[in-house]
Amino acid sequence: MAAVASVHCVAATGSAAAAAASSKRAAVLAAPRSNPLRSARTQGAYAQRTSMAASVQAVAAPAAPAVGAARPKALAEQDKSLQKPTVVITGASSGLGLNAANSLAQSGDWHVIMACRDFAKAEKAAQKLGMPKGSYTVMHLDLASLESVRQFVQNFKNSGRRLDALVANAAVYLPTAKEPTFTADGFELSVGTNHLGHFLLVNLLMDELKQAPSNNPAGAPRCIIVGSITGNTNTLAGNVPPKADLGDLRGLMNGLDGRNSSMINGGEFDGAKAYKDSKVCNMLTMRQLHQRFHESTGIAFASLYPGCIAETGLFRNHVSLFRTLFPPFQKYITKGYVSEEEAGRRLAQVVSDPSLNKSGVYWSWDNTKSSLWFEEEEGALENTVSEEVSNDVKGAKLWEKSVALVGLE
Ligand SMILES: NC(=O)c1ccc[n+]([C@@H]2O[C@H](COP(=O)([O-])OP(=O)(O)OC[C@H]3O[C@@H](n4cnc5c(N)ncnc54)[C@H](OP(=O)(O)O)[C@@H]3O)[C@@H](O)[C@H]2O)c1
Repeated sequence: MAAVASVHCVAATGSAAAAAASSKRAAVLAAPRSNPLRSARTQGAYAQRTSMAASVQAVAAPAAPAVGAARPKALAEQDKSLQKPTVVITGASSGLGLNAANSLAQSGDWHVIMACRDFAKAEKAAQKLGMPKGSYTVMHLDLASLESVRQFVQNFKNSGRRLDALVANAAVYLPTAKEPTFTADGFELSVGTNHLGHFLLVNLLMDELKQAPSNNPAGAPRCIIVGSITGNTNTLAGNVPPKADLGDLRGLMNGLDGRNSSMINGGEFDGAKAYKDSKVCNMLTMRQLHQRFHESTGIAFASLYPGCIAETGLFRNHVSLFRTLFPPFQKYITKGYVSEEEAGRRLAQVVSDPSLNKSGVYWSWDNTKSSLWFEEEEGALENTVSEEVSNDVKGAKLWEKSVALVGLE
């Protein structure tokens, strides 16, 4: 059982059960099981619309206005596509991001921007899942480079698309790394990618989100930052060593560049802890965004723990014994396991379900209630976060330093 001693997301049910137990707080929000985004009645209409959808694969530039003559059909179709509610999902080339992209694209309600570092991998994955042509666009984004983030934002703005939802999903997890590695800008890779890259992205796209027309399926713009049970020390999984702990942020204050320390709390490098710390940063950032911008912009900010998706690429750097034992351990012992497809539907629900419009919350699901195919409904539960994640003084300090590190000052 040595391999499971360091498991990444043990006992998801512990967290979900805790959420269920606090029934007064928990808002159970139902969604159809087959497709969280639409009823069976509307599936036919969607199929009809999809067959007529424009096939826009490349990054689209705004069309020049036609003078006098009838516009060519292709341009009209392109315009139609540009007006469609749009969601940007980072790290949509595999796992949770890919499956959420698929779910949203298949719904017919969304155009999905798959913001990925490996263009070819993302395109291949989208085709393999049968994502309808014209329902998605792959755009290059490497979160381990602030220059790439800025370039992505510029390319997105040039595309002329509206932005209705932004999902900060991509992540790296380096549990076996003995030495720190660094982003193009010299930050420890896990925090640099998972937190700082997303931090810049969200801030640079805030105006686009704010300006989103109100006719999207969710009813208002949304910004979702994927969290994790592992960053929440109020759960069993969050207490598996090494535990997340940002301390007084002294490593971050010193630049997180390895000269003093590559860990946020200033301690010795630990790859598993760096990932967990980055997830704490993700959830603290979501709360800061909510406090700073929800009221003035109308954007709903939220985080989620989709369940333990034990077979995703996230564990690619783990030892092979762990990768073999982890899925059955999660399925049969902790019951925290969730398939990639189901997790993707959950994230899609948080993006698109109009009833999940609350801002500043952390959603999760009770696996014990959603594992049977014949159950008609499943719901997202508003969960509680750990003491550290709810520490808004620490959140504000993290925000200020992150602003400086990514050059937003
Ligand atoms: N798996 C779980 O049990 C679990 C549990 C809780 C939360 N989560 C969260 O779920 C999210 C998705 O993880 P996953 O399990 O789906 O893992 P995954 O399959 O490995 O997906 C991670 C995605 O992030 C992308 N990515 C990594 N570094 C990037 C960079 N520098 N720039 C752009 N994209 C980058 C990867 O791209 P490539 O394809 O090019 O590598 C991949 O598309 C993460 O935020 C993770 O923390 C996962």
